[in-house]
Amino acid sequence: MPDLVALSIASEIFPLVKTGGLADIAGALPLALAQENVAVSTLVPGYPAVLDALAGAEPVAEFADLLGGPARILRGKAGELDLFALNAPHLYLRPGGPYIGADGIDHPDNAQRFAALSQAGAALSQGLAANFTPDIVHGHDWQAGLTAAYLRFSGKRAPPFVFTIHNLAFQGVFRAGLLAPLGLPATSFVTGGLEFYDQISFLKAGINFSDAITTVSPTYAREILQPDQGMSFDGILRAREEVLYGIRNGIDTQVWNPAADPLIAKNFSNRKLAARAENTHALRRKTGLAEIDGALLLGVVSRLSSQKGLDLVLECLPLFEPLNLQLVLLGAGDPELEEAFAEAAAAAPERIAAHFGYSEGLAHLIQAGAHVLLAPSRFEPCGLTQLCALRYGAVPLTSRVGGFADTIIDANDMALSAGCATGLQFTPVAADALAAALRKAAGIFANPALWRQIQLNGMKSDVGWTQPARTYANLFRKIAA
Ligand code: ADP
Ligand code: GLC
Repeated sequence: MPDLVALSIASEIFPLVKTGGLADIAGALPLALAQENVAVSTLVPGYPAVLDALAGAEPVAEFADLLGGPARILRGKAGELDLFALNAPHLYLRPGGPYIGADGIDHPDNAQRFAALSQAGAALSQGLAANFTPDIVHGHDWQAGLTAAYLRFSGKRAPPFVFTIHNLAFQGVFRAGLLAPLGLPATSFVTGGLEFYDQISFLKAGINFSDAITTVSPTYAREILQPDQGMSFDGILRAREEVLYGIRNGIDTQVWNPAADPLIAKNFSNRKLAARAENTHALRRKTGLAEIDGALLLGVVSRLSSQKGLDLVLECLPLFEPLNLQLVLLGAGDPELEEAFAEAAAAAPERIAAHFGYSEGLAHLIQAGAHVLLAPSRFEPCGLTQLCALRYGAVPLTSRVGGFADTIIDANDMALSAGCATGLQFTPVAADALAAALRKAAGIFANPALWRQIQLNGMKSDVGWTQPARTYANLFRKIAA
């Protein structure tokens, strides 16, 4: 029996709508928290894919006018997830992604779209729907940040609000003239509120009006307090340091299980690691790469944005021949990066393959077949692909930032002699440091016994949800008490 009821509010949720790791977390944490006797229901925008999944669901609340049109909240199940969908056709029923229109630019009314989500979240928190009175409310990223403000200024009793920052780069900044239209009082427009350089920031509302703040790894929780990684929020966060916690993400170890994964060519495990090689062959075949004797196959599964540092990989292309490297890249995003990788692949098709778009199947095959999972991020709040890589025996080679620092043990001399390394890391985040790490990886790869030990160490790492879910549950209980 659950002893705590939580409302989670998220702008995307796996498997219905996903642009990045936020969706994975919003989809996985409720199931992990159920094991800790916390019952989570999640409010999400009624995008077309969400309404399709909830076809036949019952309305539990109505708004005659929610920021420009009528809206309803539907409640239903999608798999094991208990969902509230905010059906507001004027805000969410349109082509394009959750944040970006079919034309490739931000929806012009994103302020209204996510203020509405937050208003509905606050109303649900305060008993709008029959038989649902959460003990705690958990908002994810700027899209849910205003919930904290609506609760704070409602003048009614409200459950405590925990705000999770998945990525400080997304700050939800809009013009101050929206304050009144969004139903926010003038008293919220202060330095200790949501005022941000004469504009309003939904992220800042979430930070300043919440009861606790979490971010997705302990190292990132420290980094964002410093000017160089604080993205103009370090001072704001330092003022709230006492209630800021870093809790690493997990991955779904059922979905990401090399011993039973239906999306890969050959299942394997730490006891049957030799079978992994068949996935390497399959990956090369599928992506048109040559079988080159002794070549180290690098894999990338990533959004293509400056955060992910993939421009540094382009700078290292001259090393591919001399170090005998190959690369499979799966990603989508920045058109300039797509073009640069497409050109690199066209120039050396036997060594470089680039696939643009979103593919669950290829993502799994890369984790199962690549020798190295490459992630040279400039910053990384947690990162999920390195966790999948550890579990799949793809040795992660990453920058030493954020969640990477917390989840990978670098193959430095000490770790190698202690036999506990799980990957390779480089710092600073610059092309020459990446080049040195690639050189080192190629050297270790030439020693199969050592390579295998690093793979096996990684496969034993704890990347699941049990520990982090317990930490969230303890925090929720402490704050709800
Ligand atoms: P971020 O949230 O910053 O994009 P994460 O590493 O936390 O980074 O999460 C990214 C998630 O999206 C992972 O589950 C990863 O496997 C997935 N992913 C990213 N790009 C693609 C793609 N092109 N195709 C399939 N999955 C992808
Ligand atoms: C963000 C971060 C990523 C994190 C994910 C889920 O998109 O960029 O590091 O893993 O959110 O928390």
